[in-house]
Amino acid sequence: MDVTTEYQDKARDIAAMFRDSFTVSEGPEAGQQIAALVAEMLGTVSAQDMHVFSAMEGAEVRASILFTRMRYPEDTRTVFILSPVAVAPDQQGKGVGQRLITHGLAALRESGVDIVLTYGDIAFYSKVGFTQITTEDAQPPLPLQHPHGWLGQALADTGFAPLQGPSECVPPLGDPDYW
Ligand SMILES: CC(C)(COP(=O)(O)OP(=O)(O)OC[C@H]1O[C@@H](n2cnc3c(N)ncnc32)[C@H](O)[C@@H]1OP(=O)(O)O)[C@@H](O)C(=O)NCCC(=O)NCCS
Repeated sequence: MDVTTEYQDKARDIAAMFRDSFTVSEGPEAGQQIAALVAEMLGTVSAQDMHVFSAMEGAEVRASILFTRMRYPEDTRTVFILSPVAVAPDQQGKGVGQRLITHGLAALRESGVDIVLTYGDIAFYSKVGFTQITTEDAQPPLPLQHPHGWLGQALADTGFAPLQGPSECVPPLGDPDYW
């Protein structure tokens, strides 16, 4: 599978792949909700605040991941959050998710990103370098409903020293339901 960072003319297909993936794993309501979120992110977040990677099989989107900027105004480091992530239902369990995330993290490291956060299941994300962190290591933009799902990793050689002060995410992720 090829990886592309192009998303402008694939936004509908990417959102539809998220809908299908989450409809199977969490039900139709979650599928609609994630598709709307992804469409809003792709349509509104500026290119400098977002990195999108999609695994393509020909013209078909098989998996996508979105990284968006997190602002820590009291900290000098560059921070992004990985969210959301989806692999098409018939492509899951074949290593596609891990390969796409590993590819994306390497590209972010190249572009000078220091720290990547995410919020999800450590059983999966530990396979691509994330460890559990606390809200003292990195303040989330909104209160966490599942603090054990707060994860991070340093891409820079300096390691993961705690991030200073409060944070802001991109507006589409600013819904308390997501946290
Ligand atoms: C979770 C998801 C992204 C993983 O991608 P994938 O390509 O299926 O996973 P990979 O094949 O790369 O990795 C599989 C490994 O991760 C683990 N894994 C896969 N999905 C998992 C999940 N939902 N929770 C915990 N572990 C998971 C498996 O146990 C497997 O481990 P193993 O190789 O030791 O057997 C994908 O299954 C998916 O899109 N699920 C539905 C949507 C979702 O839950 N997205 C994540 C929340 S934003």
